[in-house]
Amino acid sequence: MKLAIINGPNLNLLGKREPEIYGHQNFESYFQSLQAKFPQVELSYYQSNVEGELINKIHEIGFVYDGIIINAGAYTHTSVAIADALKSVSAKSIEVHISNVFKREEIRHTSLLSPVVEGTIGGLGLSSYELAIDYFLIGR
Ligand code: DQA
Repeated sequence: MKLAIINGPNLNLLGKREPEIYGHQNFESYFQSLQAKFPQVELSYYQSNVEGELINKIHEIGFVYDGIIINAGAYTHTSVAIADALKSVSAKSIEVHISNVFKREEIRHTSLLSPVVEGTIGGLGLSSYELAIDYFLIGR
């Protein structure tokens, strides 16, 4: 199974950015632990701070991969274009968030991606990504 993790803006700063919200681990080291935990999965990781680059990546992998695990960061709350891209490809998507967006400012309570993904996992720290992989492996 081929699964792509796509992270949006500011998630390159995990470990340094607001650690009280996002924790102390950087994504690269977490990604290595995911690769070790799921050797049977062909996992890729891409991060960009640029909306169009995220869309290009979704187009590039969206007809080749089985699943997309996407944390679009703040674009979650604003990007019709990323939602359209996810809708346009054959891969199924799961939306993930590290923080519990519903415990935070009201602007974070709306996701433009939620209506186009299989489901959303959030508020569980980096484990949200691991649970998304489990979903793709095990199903409902
Ligand atoms: C986030 C939540 C978003 O509201 C925020 O803009 C992020 C990270 C999360 O993983 O908790 O950048 O997607």
